[in-house]
Amino acid sequence: MKFKKTMLAAVAAGALLLSACSGGGGGASTGGGEGGGDGGLIGVAMPTKSSERWIQDGNAVKAALEEAGYQVDLQYAEDDIPTQVSQIENMITKGAEALIVASIDGTTLTEVLQTAADSEIPVIAYDRLLMDTENVDYYATFDNELVGNQQAWTLLNGLGLTELDGTPIDGAPEGPFNIELFAGSLDDNNAFFFFNGAMDVLNPYIEDGTLVVKSGQTDIEQAATLRWDGEEAQSRLENIITANYSDGTKINAVLSPYDGISRGIIGALTDAGYSVGDEWPIISGQDAEVDSVKAILSGEQFATIFKDTRELAKVAAGMAIAALNGDTVEVNDEETYDNNVKTVPSYLLAPVQVVKDNVESALVDTGYWTKADLGL
Ligand code: GAL
Repeated sequence: MKFKKTMLAAVAAGALLLSACSGGGGGASTGGGEGGGDGGLIGVAMPTKSSERWIQDGNAVKAALEEAGYQVDLQYAEDDIPTQVSQIENMITKGAEALIVASIDGTTLTEVLQTAADSEIPVIAYDRLLMDTENVDYYATFDNELVGNQQAWTLLNGLGLTELDGTPIDGAPEGPFNIELFAGSLDDNNAFFFFNGAMDVLNPYIEDGTLVVKSGQTDIEQAATLRWDGEEAQSRLENIITANYSDGTKINAVLSPYDGISRGIIGALTDAGYSVGDEWPIISGQDAEVDSVKAILSGEQFATIFKDTRELAKVAAGMAIAALNGDTVEVNDEETYDNNVKTVPSYLLAPVQVVKDNVESALVDTGYWTKADLGL
């Protein structure tokens, strides 16, 4: 594939590699619109502002690109697929030289990505893989299967069965423990990696009877949550409780793939009469959103998975700049992410488990959130 190359952009790419990212965290700017230097325009398409993490991501990508001298068109589509398609079309019309895309539904952008390819615009999939197309050049994400493993390990740790890395604890309780399972949105390839990664860890405990899924809903199709919507998760858990736990038995753990879903789960449990400190279940999560970190501190949520959006932004921005300049793009995984047409060269970052004990070291000491953000 031929990408445009300008000296200015090449210098800017070098500058980006030398500079540490300064975006992200609680104090980043609000983002949106265009800005930056004269190194050319890069389009950044984000799914929604309704989840805090994408605001962090968008701000951090914009800051990294602007620092390298590029102009940025950052758009959010409020989880509306046609809006995202037309936002990307507009970016191409405006002359974007590269695209960084976090999709709503990874399968819905094939036509607009063909338009990008026809204009020789490199495309970076941001955190969510772009599916069913050859017109995605690179993928910046985290080790999503490990995220799923880590989510399951946090549940086992909260139940006293294993360490946080999954190592069994001697003399652990025998159970049985009741667990219910939630997955993300089936139009997001990540949902499969998280759920399968978690189930690889949980299945042996289900098979030997230590964990019991009373609802019987163990398939990803049954556990799925369209658009990762917390309210949908809340009503599904309410139905599960009514159908399976009205005999007074308790849920001991809930697998949640994302903090917004965890908040819905907490709502359903609270409405059903559960209270923290009195057989409150162990609940997992992901993204280290402020409200959920506060919920970890208050004991409502046991854990989250922290994925440093500042690092992801730096990787994606570096990929876009290198690709549009025809430079070598650094990847560390060339076999895991098959989008049904090709295996997309990827750079995977490491996710970090966060429980009450390491909130400060993982999130405050790293500058991701301030003590004030977390009410500390
Ligand atoms: C996934 C992402 C998760 C979470 C979820 C809901 O694609 O990897 O970290 O943010 O979307 O937004």
